[in-house]
Amino acid sequence: MSLTSSIEDRGSIRPPAALEDRAREAYRRSELRAEHYLQELTERVRSGRYATELAEDFRVWKRSHIRPWPARLFGSRRGSEPRDYDRYIQWMDAAGKLDDYLERSVSYLYMRDLGRALDDTDTQSRVRRTAGGLKRSLLHGEQQEGMPTDGFDTAGLYRWGQQESIEDTVIWMIAKMKRVSENIPEGMNAEQAQRKLLKIIAGVVLHAREEMDEQTPKEERSRRMDEAVRLGYSYGLTYPFVDDLLDSTLLTDDEKASYSDLIRSALLTGTVPEWDAWSGAFESGHAENFALIRYIHSELGEAFEYIKGRQAGGGGSVFFEQAYVFFESQDADRNKRLEANEYTAAQLYVPVILKSSGSRLIARSVGQADKDGGFERRTFYYGIYNQLADDFADLFDDLEAGAVTPYTYYWKYRAERPDLPNPFEMYWAVIAYLIRDVYDSDPNTREVLLDRAINGLKRARQRLGIPRYEELMDMLTSGMPELNAIVQKMVKKAEDVEFFDKLLRDRMLTEMKKDREDRERFRTLLDDIRAEIEQALPIATDSPVPAVGDSLIEAANYSLAGSGKRLRPILARLVATEGYGLDEKAVRPMLTSLEYLHTASLIFDDLPSQDNADTRRGRQTLHARYDSATAELSGLLLIQQGVREQSSLQGFKAETVLALMHYSARKAEELCMGQALDLKSRGQLLSLERLNEICFYKTGVAFEACLIMPAMLANAPEAELELMKKFAYHAGIAFQIRDDLLDAEGEALNLGKPAGQDEANGSSTFVTVLGLGGAKREMWNHYCEASDAVRALPESLRFLKHLLDYLVQREK
Ligand code: IPE
Ligand code: IPE
Ligand code: MG
Ligand code: MG
Ligand code: MG
Repeated sequence: MSLTSSIEDRGSIRPPAALEDRAREAYRRSELRAEHYLQELTERVRSGRYATELAEDFRVWKRSHIRPWPARLFGSRRGSEPRDYDRYIQWMDAAGKLDDYLERSVSYLYMRDLGRALDDTDTQSRVRRTAGGLKRSLLHGEQQEGMPTDGFDTAGLYRWGQQESIEDTVIWMIAKMKRVSENIPEGMNAEQAQRKLLKIIAGVVLHAREEMDEQTPKEERSRRMDEAVRLGYSYGLTYPFVDDLLDSTLLTDDEKASYSDLIRSALLTGTVPEWDAWSGAFESGHAENFALIRYIHSELGEAFEYIKGRQAGGGGSVFFEQAYVFFESQDADRNKRLEANEYTAAQLYVPVILKSSGSRLIARSVGQADKDGGFERRTFYYGIYNQLADDFADLFDDLEAGAVTPYTYYWKYRAERPDLPNPFEMYWAVIAYLIRDVYDSDPNTREVLLDRAINGLKRARQRLGIPRYEELMDMLTSGMPELNAIVQKMVKKAEDVEFFDKLLRDRMLTEMKKDREDRERFRTLLDDIRAEIEQALPIATDSPVPAVGDSLIEAANYSLAGSGKRLRPILARLVATEGYGLDEKAVRPMLTSLEYLHTASLIFDDLPSQDNADTRRGRQTLHARYDSATAELSGLLLIQQGVREQSSLQGFKAETVLALMHYSARKAEELCMGQALDLKSRGQLLSLERLNEICFYKTGVAFEACLIMPAMLANAPEAELELMKKFAYHAGIAFQIRDDLLDAEGEALNLGKPAGQDEANGSSTFVTVLGLGGAKREMWNHYCEASDAVRALPESLRFLKHLLDYLVQREK
C-alpha cells in the first residue's frame, strides 16, 4: 500500500488543509534549521576551530580535576569504586565529595531534561535545593521528592502519589502500565517499554513541578500533577506503540506502512481515524497483529484525545506540529539501511538532530505552550549531543544490529566516503558549540559538559577494555591529534567526573535483572507447586462405613477439585523450601492441611445461612449440588482431615509439631470469629478500624498461618516471625480488598463464583463502606506496608514481593 494515496483516496477523512499545511511547514522549517546547525558544526570540524576552543576549555577545566602529583601518589582512592551503591555514597560523603557530586549531577539533569540555563540564578537555587534534598534522602533515608522511575518500586510510586495527593491518579497509572505490559507482544521487550514509559511520565511531571513553587496552592498542585501523569502516559505510549513497534520485526512491511500512515494521518488531521477505515489494512496479516493494532488504536486514540483536550486553544497546534516533526524524523531515520552507501551527511544528521531534540521539546510542550524561548533554542541544539554520546557507547551493539547511526555509518564507509564527517569530531564540535554559542561560555555549563564527556570516555574504556578502547580511539581521533592528547590524558588522570544518574542506572540495571530472574523463577515455581499440591489433595476413599462414608469423602473431594488458586499452600511451600530450606516432601502434610482448612471455610461461607452462594471454583457449591447437611459434614470432615495431616508430620520434633497444631487450631478459631463478625456487621456502616479488624480475622489470619507454620517448623528467629506477621496482616487484608473489588467489578465467569454477592447480601465490605476509590486506596496502603515488611526480611524471603504483587493485581 502506498503511503499517501491511502489517505487521499478516502475523501471523507481528507485533513483540513490548514492544519496539515502548518505541520508540513513546521517540518520544513525545522529541517532548514537543522541543516543550518549541521553546517555550523561541519564548518567547526573542517576548520579545526572546535579543537582549539576545547583545548582552551580543558586548560581551565583541568585545574579542578587533576590533583598535583604528590597528592596523587599518597592520597587514598580506596572506596571510590561505584559498585556498592550505599558504600559509594558513604565514601563520597566522608571524602567531602558528595555535595559537588550531587550538584554536578542535578545541574546536568536540569540542563538536559529541563532545558535550563545554568547561569540563571533561579536555576542555580533550584539545583542546590534539589541536590540538598537528594543528599538527605541518600544519607538519612528521607523520602525523596520526585516520582520514582524504577519499574519495580510500586510502593514508592504510590507513596509519592500520596505525598502529592494524587493517589487515584497513581492507581490509574499502575493499572494502565499493567495493561500495556500485558499487551506488549513477545518479540518486544515489555520491561524496557514499561521503563521508558515511566521515564517519559517522570519527565513530564518534572516539567510540571518546575513550573510551581511553594506559593502554588495544594489543590492546584495536585491538579497539575494529575494532569502531568496523564499527559505523560498519553505521550509516553508512543514510545512502545509507535517507535518500538515500528523498529521491531513484528509487523510486515505493508503493515508498517499502513500503520505509519495511520499515525501520520492522526497527526496531520488532529483526529484519530476511525478504526473501521483502517482495519482492512491489517486483516490479511497475523491475527495477533490485528488484535494488537486494534488495542493500540483504541489506547492511543484515547491518549490522543486527552492530549488534544489539554492543549491551549484546544487546537494543540504546537504539540501536533512538534509531534509530527518528531514522528517524521524518526521515520526518516528508521528507514535508512546500513547497506546503502549513498546517504549524504545531511541525510544522516538532520533526522538525528530533529528526533533527538524532538522528544525533549515535546515533553514540555505536551504540558504547556512554550513560554520560554530560551528553552526551545537550548533544547534544539542540545539533543544531538546526547544522541552522539549514546551512539558512541552503543557503536558495537548497533553494528551488530545493522542499525544506521552516524557512528556505524562512518565505521563502515569511512574509507570510501571522505565526504562524511567523523562523528567523534562532530561530537566534540557540538560540545564546543554548546559551550560557546548556546550557553555563552558559562563556567558551570563548561564544567558539567566536560565532566560528562570525560566520564563517558572513562566508562567506555572500562567497558571495552583498554586495547579495544585504544583501537577505537585511534580510528576516531586521527583528525584531532592535539585535542586527543589532552582528552586521553584527562581520561586517565582526571577525578571527580562521576554522575549520580549513571550510578542509579547501573544499580537499576542490576536490580532489574535480578527482579526479572526472580519473577520468572517465581512464575514457574507457582505452576510447578500448584501441580504438586493438586496431586496430593484428593482424600482416599477408605472409610470404615463404605457407602455413606465414601460419598461424604467424594463430596469433600468435589469441593477440593474445583479451580482453586491454592494460594495458601503455595505460600507455605515457598516459605518452607525457598525461605528455610525445609524438605519439600516433609512439609507436604502441612500444605494439604492448609488447603483442607481453607476449603472447609469456603464450604461454610457459601451456605445459605452465610453468604448463600451457588457457585464456587467454577462449579456448583456443595450445598447446591447435594444439600446443606452434606456440605456441613464435608466441611467438618475436611477440618478433621487437616488435623490428621498435621499430626502426621514426620522428621520434626514432637513438641514442634504440637506447637504447630496448637497454633493452627487457634487460627482456625479466629477465622470462625472473623466470619461471625462479618455476618453480624451486615447493613452497618463500619469504621475503617473495624473493617480492618474483621478482614484480618476472616482472611488475614489464614495468610499468617501459611507463613508462621513453616517458620515454626524451621525454628525461625522471633524477629523474623514478627515481620512475617506484619506482612501477613497487610497482605491478607489487601487480598480481601481485592476480593471485595472483584466482587463489585469482576465477572462471575472469570471468578468462578458469583459477582455482586456482597451487595445482594447487604455485606459490609471495603467497597460498600469506602466505595471503589476508597477501597483501592486502602488496598494500596496495605500493599505499601506489606512491601516494607518484605524489604526488612532476609533475602531468601524476598519472593514474597512477587506474591504480594500478584495478590493485588490478580483478576480472579
Ligand atoms: C476466597 O479465597 C476466600 C477469601 C478469603 C476471599 P480464594 O480466593 O483464595 O479462593 P480459592 O481457594 O482460589 O477458591
Ligand atoms: C470469605 O470472604 C472469607 C473466608 C475465610 C471464607 P468472602 O465471603 O468475601 O469470600 P468469597 O468472596 O465468598 O470467596
Ligand atoms: Mg463471606
Ligand atoms: Mg462469600
Ligand atoms: Mg468476597
